[in-house]
Amino acid sequence: MTESPVLLPSSPESGRLRASAARAGSLREITLTRPDDWHLHLRDGDTLRAVIGDSARQFGRAIIMPNLKPPVTTTEAARAYRGRILDALTQAGFQTEAFEPLMTLYLTDRTPPDEIRRACDSGFIHGVKLYPAGATTNSDSGVTDLLANCRQTLAVMQDLKMPLLMHGEVTDPQVDVFDREAVFIERVMRPLRQAFPALKVVFEHLTTADGVAYVREADGPVAATLTAHHLLYNRNALFRGGLRPHYYCLPILKRETHRQALLEAATSGNPRFFLGTDSAPHPRGAKEQDCGCAGCYTAYHAMALYATAFEAQGRLDRLEAFASLNGPRFYGLAPNRGTITLERCEAVIPQALAVDGTDVVPLAAGETLGWRLRG
Ligand code: NCD
Ligand code: ZN
Repeated sequence: MTESPVLLPSSPESGRLRASAARAGSLREITLTRPDDWHLHLRDGDTLRAVIGDSARQFGRAIIMPNLKPPVTTTEAARAYRGRILDALTQAGFQTEAFEPLMTLYLTDRTPPDEIRRACDSGFIHGVKLYPAGATTNSDSGVTDLLANCRQTLAVMQDLKMPLLMHGEVTDPQVDVFDREAVFIERVMRPLRQAFPALKVVFEHLTTADGVAYVREADGPVAATLTAHHLLYNRNALFRGGLRPHYYCLPILKRETHRQALLEAATSGNPRFFLGTDSAPHPRGAKEQDCGCAGCYTAYHAMALYATAFEAQGRLDRLEAFASLNGPRFYGLAPNRGTITLERCEAVIPQALAVDGTDVVPLAAGETLGWRLRG
């Protein structure tokens, strides 16, 4: 099987996003209910101040990942982090009503059931994030054995309808890195959902056909987020002409058959699938080194990237459900009230963005997108 890194129309060998794909279509612009990002890393401090505008320009709300150092494990820590996010928002020139951070707690082996009750009472915490210990960036305090260590906490989450947001990969070094999601379904997801069938679960940043099939067929309240990079790229992007650290994220990009399954799911209209960028800024130097960090920065051009993926599938008409309607429905929230407009335009993605005295390389740097956000 041939696998080009980016399989958009007219770009099979070069592996480049091409505006010509967009030109082939007829729509000049699309207006959508303002979308939400159901999986976002905003970081903290100067980085937070530098990146927040990228999300706030496009999205009305975002689920904020708690993998800071130290992680956000308590309602009080989440309250303080939320305050810093709102301060950064106003410093970036936005009204606080423009963007609502939906906070999460970082689950550990020792998160007490009472912490879930406090989180629920707060009104601003909308999920609890499972990082299997060691699975990804800043996951050292993650869970070592979910069903052995977190049963009482999970029972309270189930009762209170607090969603569990799962980084769905096993960390067993014996398991091939490309198989970690599929093995997670068997070893963790199925036993968990057998024990807690009414627990609300989001399978975060789904990357495989196995994950898509699981989410489609599962009984009960299960959904999944999909990133723009997993919809646009397969694993060849990591090795195009050399090692490409800015395409390295976790879960890692998979082979083309998996990308096709993700695209099909995203554009199917099935309400279980919705937008979560997993935008994860790292300074260039942290990625370009002998042990580089995982994470792609996509907040800058998120909606243009998703529009490119949906258009390549001939399904721009389904973008609004995926980006703006399915997520709020799962989380029990109303859709946003405003709209955004994307317009057809050959926009070159910058080679780097200035962030916190260093630079961050956005996904697909130097390539041309066929869409951009108006205004
Ligand atoms: C994320 C990060 O950098 O915080 N990295 C990534 O590759 N996605 C963590 C995560 O969501 O796994
Ligand atoms: Zn993430």
